[in-house]
Amino acid sequence: MKVTFLPSGKQVEVKQGVTLLQASRLAGITIPTRCGGKAGCMMCKVNVPEGEEGHLSKPGRAERNKLGTWIDHGTRLACQAAVQDSVTVQVPEDKLKAAIRKQLERQAEEDTLW
Ligand code: FES
Repeated sequence: MKVTFLPSGKQVEVKQGVTLLQASRLAGITIPTRCGGKAGCMMCKVNVPEGEEGHLSKPGRAERNKLGTWIDHGTRLACQAAVQDSVTVQVPEDKLKAAIRKQLERQAEEDTLW
């Protein structure tokens, strides 16, 4: 099954049961962690689009306790959510990266004008 990470669009083929955190490493995507994947730090939050929530394992008690109602809005902990079917995952960009990406996009637009 395929996991697609946004905004980069990188994809990786994984077996059922692989966590999103493991899949991200295979895809070369950096998802920050501090607790070592124990549902302790919440730094690995990702978002799954509506309709694809069932493509991941159901949240366990630790994840539910951490995320509360965010789970209802498609937020999951990458270290806890295991792939059950092909899925798309939105990885939040850190602010510096987002600013650099926007600047590069602007630069590319200007370059095409010449
Ligand atoms: S890595 Fe810390 S909560 Fe997932």
